[in-house]
Amino acid sequence: MADQSRRDFLYVATAAVGTVGAVGLAWPFIDQMNPDASTRALASIDVDVSSLEPGQAIVVKWRGRPVFIRYRTDAEVEAARATPIEELKDKGAENANLPTNAPATDENRSGGEGRENWIVMVGVCTHLGCVPIGTAGDFGGWFCPCHGSHYDTAGRIRKGPAPKNLEVPVFAFTSDTTIRIG
Ligand code: FES
Repeated sequence: MADQSRRDFLYVATAAVGTVGAVGLAWPFIDQMNPDASTRALASIDVDVSSLEPGQAIVVKWRGRPVFIRYRTDAEVEAARATPIEELKDKGAENANLPTNAPATDENRSGGEGRENWIVMVGVCTHLGCVPIGTAGDFGGWFCPCHGSHYDTAGRIRKGPAPKNLEVPVFAFTSDTTIRIG
């Protein structure tokens, strides 16, 4: 399973490089772990997002798992907000920062007041654990190629076998350009 995840992740990283020229999106992998901070980093990491423009995303590693950070365009936010909750397969926010019964509105999935365009999610498909590809799929969010799960621009499962929305980890903006995860 560990090997499978790793292989999927490398596949996604490779695929992302291939898309940079075509659609102008960058998915650089940033490994925030370093030896002198390894213990602290297991609990939380600080990510500098100052270089991201709307429409761009990065993937960071946190507690051994990929975390997607995407600075969404206004159109991507609007698309997510226009989707009625009733249409969602998983109506729960799946957001570790909110009560477990919070509904899966875009507001409850994203960065909160004044940070609506940001979204932070654990990049592990809720079906069997592959790493979805960004800016892909029928809903313009993420697509998991393993068995065809489509997530929307709020990371909510919309089509395919995955049962749940992508998980939003504990995170907070500690400055205008820094996100602390964990
Ligand atoms: S692991 Fe993602 S669709 Fe099966």
